[in-house]
Amino acid sequence: MRLGTLFLGVGLASLFVGALGGEKAAQKEPAFPLSLFAKATEESYLGDDACSGCHEDVVAKFKLSAHAPHSNNPKLPVGKLGCEGCHGPGQFHVDEENPQVVAYSKMDAKQVAAACLRCHGDTMKLSHWNRTDHAQASVACTSCHQIHPKEADDAKPAADVLTAFHAQPTPKKLLKESEAKLCGSCHPKTVTQFKQNSHHPVPEGRMVCSDCHDVHPAKSARKNIDAVKGKCVTCHADRAGPFVYEHDPVAGWTGDGCAECHKPHGSQNPKLLTSFSRGACAQCHTDKLSRHFPGRSCWSSGCHVAVHGSNTDPKLLRR
Ligand code: HEC
Ligand code: HEC
Ligand code: HEC
Ligand code: HEC
Ligand code: HEC
Ligand code: HEC
Ligand code: HEC
Ligand code: HEC
Ligand code: HEC
Repeated sequence: MRLGTLFLGVGLASLFVGALGGEKAAQKEPAFPLSLFAKATEESYLGDDACSGCHEDVVAKFKLSAHAPHSNNPKLPVGKLGCEGCHGPGQFHVDEENPQVVAYSKMDAKQVAAACLRCHGDTMKLSHWNRTDHAQASVACTSCHQIHPKEADDAKPAADVLTAFHAQPTPKKLLKESEAKLCGSCHPKTVTQFKQNSHHPVPEGRMVCSDCHDVHPAKSARKNIDAVKGKCVTCHADRAGPFVYEHDPVAGWTGDGCAECHKPHGSQNPKLLTSFSRGACAQCHTDKLSRHFPGRSCWSSGCHVAVHGSNTDPKLLRR
């Protein structure tokens, strides 16, 4: 028995060493496109002028890109400077035998993210990005961002998104469209919710989706109650408490916090409520419906006016 365990132990140990060795090898040779940068020397970089010879138009137009002042900053190391910071060392590209270049429109979403995050580690780490719904659905950085200046005939979102989000803000952060229209072009159901009577003022251009959604989560993508409430109370601090008499769901002790009574995007009921009247309360306080008649609605009838919490009344009758 003992001998068997010993052999097993040795076997496992060598497996472990093998795995470590493999990892080291993998570190030496990262996957494409980072592999191009890894094997480059200073001489592999030819500078933007070398690109002009064959891509004159692109080089001239790139100067109009909002990204140009950043990637043309002469303080950058040669491997992060100019066209080659994104497309890889020019020497490999013009190599007659085995031309290689970082061609974003021909790469999958993972490869694009790796190439962009070579410089954007401050915005997020690759491991954070990989955990997002977008990364998992193969949405690429370049599905939302456009580096080279837009051509006039580039695809626009569908007409119905354009009319729903009627504000005309100029796109920021190299987004392909103004944010709401861009997000709406892939999330038609959300667009419909914002068409409801009571809605957050995204269609009017007073808010954007990323006020509530972290497109680039700097930490792990948290989706718990705290995260929802935390977002809401950055703007609605007066609803957050603390109150002397807290209302459990508002405090986030039970249920989905704010989302227990409010729809975040839009609702056909006033104040983004999930239900027009007492239904919003009855989903939890079923017993109260039979024990005392709450009137048309528990709060607008002038009774439980302090729905979010009260400093003076345990029954939430006064603020
Ligand atoms: C000697 C000419 C030449 C030079 C110099 C050159 N390229 Fe190219 N490049 C080409 C050709 C040819 C293609 C292929 C065009 C095609 O397939 O439509 C190409 C394609 C590309 C592509 C797109 C690849 C694809 O498959 O879609 C990128 C990106 C690119 N070049 C970037 C650069 C950059 C950056 C530089 C400067 C470091 C550069 N090129 C210098 C000739 C050149
Ligand atoms: C910040 C990164 C970045 C820089 C810097 C950059 N590009 Fe690009 N390039 C891209 C991306 C991303 C695409 C894919 C299309 C798009 O999103 O605009 C692209 C597309 C291209 C294409 C078309 C081939 C394709 O894949 O669609 C060529 C050619 C090209 N770039 C050449 C250049 C040249 C020449 C320069 C320098 C003047 C340059 N790029 C600078 C990121 C960059
Ligand atoms: C060679 C380095 C480098 C690469 C590769 C790179 N960027 Fe950048 N980018 C920068 C720098 C530097 C800035 C300036 C802001 C900063 O320091 O983050 C910047 C700024 C930006 C901004 C903000 C622009 C603004 O208006 O504020 C966006 C968006 C962006 N990059 C997207 C991308 C995307 C998408 C890719 C991949 C296609 C990419 N970048 C690849 C260096 C790079
Ligand atoms: C679903 C759309 C979407 C995708 C995909 C996306 N972004 Fe963004 N990006 C945005 C929006 C919206 C903003 C502006 C709001 C913000 O800063 O969160 C932004 C802003 C940025 C900025 C500027 C950050 C700053 O602090 O000013 C950088 C850099 C950037 N993105 C890089 C990337 C990179 C790299 C990827 C891919 C790994 C990526 N983005 C993928 C939508 C997107
Ligand atoms: C290119 C298309 C595309 C764009 C643009 C886009 N998304 Fe998405 N989004 C997706 C896909 C695909 C998924 C994953 C499948 C799904 O759940 O719908 C997703 C998932 C999500 C989710 C998680 C959905 C869930 O069920 O939990 C949120 C939240 C989201 N996107 C918000 C945004 C925001 C905010 C923007 C704009 C900054 C945006 N999206 C832009 C395609 C896109
Ligand atoms: C006032 C804050 C807020 C704004 C603004 C906002 N969202 Fe949301 N969104 C939320 C909350 C809260 C959820 C529910 C998240 C959860 O339960 O984890 C959500 C959920 C989603 C989902 C998942 C599917 C669903 O409906 O549950 C998508 C997709 C989405 N939002 C897209 C968008 C898009 C696109 C925009 C801009 C047009 C946007 N959101 C603007 C707060 C907001
Ligand atoms: C970025 C700031 C911001 C965030 C985050 C935010 N809101 Fe709002 N909220 C607003 C603005 C602006 C209005 C519109 C006020 C107005 O029109 O005077 C509003 C209005 C409301 C209203 C009243 C709607 C009406 O018809 O009067 C409710 C309820 C509400 N928000 C709940 C929430 C909830 C729940 C969350 C979290 C999911 C949230 N808000 C997150 C800015 C925000
Ligand atoms: C138990 C249900 C419930 C919960 C949970 C809840 N609310 Fe409300 N909220 C209401 C009701 C009911 C109203 C309408 C009150 C009124 O008309 O006086 C309202 C109104 C609002 C308004 C609009 C106030 C005005 O005067 O226009 C805002 C903003 C708001 N809630 C934010 C929040 C935020 C933020 C959270 C989470 C911290 C939250 N609510 C949680 C039930 C709730
Ligand atoms: C998600 C569940 C939930 C919803 C929805 C909800 N409540 Fe509550 N409420 C609670 C819990 C849990 C308590 C504290 C435990 C208890 O005493 O029943 C509480 C306590 C109260 C109290 C304190 C009196 C007491 O019995 O201790 C009042 C008053 C009250 N709620 C009114 C409302 C009103 C009005 C609404 C609708 C706007 C509402 N609640 C919606 C869960 C909910």
